[in-house]
Amino acid sequence: MFPIKLSQVGFTPDGRSVLAGVDLEIDVDGITVILGPNGAGKTILLRMLAGLQAPHGGTIRWNGNGLPAAGIAMVFQHPVLLRSSVFHNAGLGLQPLALGRAETLRRTQHTLERVGLAHRAADSARLLSGGERQRLALARAWAMQPKLLLLDEPTAALDPSATESVERIIREIRSDGARIVMTTHNLGQAMRIADDIVFLASGRVIERAPASRFFARPQTNEAKLFIQGELPWRIAFDD
Ligand SMILES: Nc1ncnc2c1ncn2[C@@H]1O[C@H](COP(=O)(O)OP(=O)(O)OP(=O)(O)O)[C@@H](O)[C@H]1O
Ligand SMILES: [Mg+2]
Repeated sequence: MFPIKLSQVGFTPDGRSVLAGVDLEIDVDGITVILGPNGAGKTILLRMLAGLQAPHGGTIRWNGNGLPAAGIAMVFQHPVLLRSSVFHNAGLGLQPLALGRAETLRRTQHTLERVGLAHRAADSARLLSGGERQRLALARAWAMQPKLLLLDEPTAALDPSATESVERIIREIRSDGARIVMTTHNLGQAMRIADDIVFLASGRVIERAPASRFFARPQTNEAKLFIQGELPWRIAFDD
């Protein structure tokens, strides 16, 4: 699977240039957070890393291959939950893996415990709060023991306490050995959780840097303006 290499990747729906020449390499370790304004192409980029969307130009290679190996899980911004129990929803990702009934039940139960939803296993998934739904979606992905986990704004619309729970789970999934690539508009979250930042704007990767450096010393004007614009308070950078 790794490294995943994007070379001059373009996305041009109806001739409109959304991504234009994205070069990006994702190696085996860590949490990468993709930042960028609305419409920058962050979700599209995650879909491309998952192999769900082919680029309109350029190439993507997963360890040299034109198709990704098994072992990728993606949690969409609005995860689809079936009208069935929490337990059933948590195990859905395991069905195609044909692990056998005992292993499927064991993994599902274990993962629900780790996201703190074991006591809700028999409830209808539709009854869950926003934060609980997001934890259920993470459990479904985690149970698959992915090598690469893609998360699209996993805490959009969650309060600080639910956000903290989700961040803790993301860290644990990473400790379990999954490579994580995610998007967020919550810069505090990006500071807390990211090993490195990919800043996407104007169709390109404008900056890629360790998170601490990106926030302390952004190299481009675009990144400075973005950081200042997204934060609820103003900060100044000494140049
Ligand atoms: N399948 C598609 N067909 C046509 N246009 C698309 C398609 N998918 C995305 N787009 C367009 O590509 C642009 C980038 O979309 P994308 O969802 O990746 O942005 P984003 O960076 O995730 O934004 P946000 O922060 O609002 O989630 C948008 O203008 C969107 O309308
Ligand atoms: Mg998006």
